[in-house]
Amino acid sequence: MPGLTVPESDRKKLSGYDFYREVLGSPKHVVAPMVDQSELAWRTLSRRYGAQLVYTPMINAKMYADLRHKQKREEFFNTLLGEEGGAGDRPLIIQFCANDPDQLLTSAKLLEPYCDAVDINLGCPQDIARRGHYGSFLQDEWDLIYKLINTLHRNLSIPVTAKFRVFSTVEKTVEYAKMLESAGAQILTCHGRLREQRGHNTGLADWDKIRAVKEAVSVPVFANGNVLFHGDVERLLAATGADAVMSAEGNLYNPALFSPAPQPPASDTTSAESNSSAPSTSFSASPLSLAPYSIGLHPRHASLALEYLEIVKTQRTPTPLRCVKGHLFKLLKPALSRETDLRDRLQRVRYEKPETAMWEKYEEIVRDLDERMQRDEKAVEGQPLESLVTIDSVTNLPVLPHWLAQPYVRPPQPAPAKKESVAADTNVGKRSPPEADDAQEAETSKRAKLDNGEPHIEETQREVAAIG
Ligand SMILES: Cc1cc2nc3c(=O)[nH]c(=O)nc-3n(C[C@H](O)[C@H](O)[C@H](O)COP(=O)(O)O)c2cc1C
Repeated sequence: MPGLTVPESDRKKLSGYDFYREVLGSPKHVVAPMVDQSELAWRTLSRRYGAQLVYTPMINAKMYADLRHKQKREEFFNTLLGEEGGAGDRPLIIQFCANDPDQLLTSAKLLEPYCDAVDINLGCPQDIARRGHYGSFLQDEWDLIYKLINTLHRNLSIPVTAKFRVFSTVEKTVEYAKMLESAGAQILTCHGRLREQRGHNTGLADWDKIRAVKEAVSVPVFANGNVLFHGDVERLLAATGADAVMSAEGNLYNPALFSPAPQPPASDTTSAESNSSAPSTSFSASPLSLAPYSIGLHPRHASLALEYLEIVKTQRTPTPLRCVKGHLFKLLKPALSRETDLRDRLQRVRYEKPETAMWEKYEEIVRDLDERMQRDEKAVEGQPLESLVTIDSVTNLPVLPHWLAQPYVRPPQPAPAKKESVAADTNVGKRSPPEADDAQEAETSKRAKLDNGEPHIEETQREVAAIG
């Protein structure tokens, strides 16, 4: 397994491509840091379906370093039970947000034995980050950013990496990326959106800027933004020359995003799909218009949800209820607008002990949903899956049958006033990522409000911001 072939104690600190290849195993498929959503159980599920490297949710370095919050540390990252950062959870990059090099170093030192690298979040555009003075709100303080990165570069036994948003011009974006590299960042993740691209102004990521960054630096570059379907992964790699693609929302709605569809037997394209007891359904292309999108694996979402719940139940590391709830609402979204009674039941699950009681309640609801999905599948038995796909008239993107995991695409917003917010020509598909503004998700996200492509910020982190 990448990252584990060499005993930790014997491992020398590698940099750039040596690190990327020898420690990380040259990953191309990367799951993004996501507050409340890239927790251990989700990482495990994502790895099963093709993720080759996963980031933890952002940890606030100020809070982590503060001894008054010592008991909260295990909630951020569990070091006691041996699962987080253990053999099954590698390669792993732990992400921090910070604005103080000493606090960052203190926190990173505590967690360096449990990961392959430490990442710094320079991309969060939310108000909480403005108040806490971190994420993209450091974007204009290059001296401070240099110090944050360089302190870890000089003092950690593992590499430091950085994830950032682009500036309005290619030139400034490239200059910035070079500064991050010169500070010691050994991998750069470029999210091709501006700091201002959030909420209703999220728009599309600019792949041209990512390509310019890739061409300008010598360390590996991960490209991030606008990946909804499996076909987008190769397109993004080709358009930018990046070493890997990082996905956040695409992964949340279909954790098998990185898996190609298995080739159906030449003589039979429908039998596996009409077998409702099969664990997953692939969506293989035939109509040409769908080909760019349809080469990936789209398992049944209820099967994925049950698999995820099984992981939550069987691992020893506790998973917070808010994470589970958030995942279920996203995964099952294609069906929940039809099955509103089940959506309400999902919504009503409350925290209780023992926690297995909650997970069993969720399982029961998902099983009920699964039965209804099997009923719907049966009603169209024998029809080729491709004939059940419609094209959304607004987004022009395929809508798969409602029992399959698939991206949630909201209609594009009116064109933004600024030129730089407009999609790059290389972007495929004119679409924006979803916004979690549905009532049920809004409720789910009281602690962690999804704001179109940037972090859920949980209450604990609000507390940090208050002291930040
Ligand atoms: C639920 C959620 C939580 C996120 N949390 C973080 C985070 O902790 N750290 C970070 O750098 N970015 C975070 N992001 C931003 C993503 O990592 C990613 O940069 C962004 O969503 C764009 O990628 P996408 O187009 O694949 O969604 C989060 C995004 C989502 C949807």
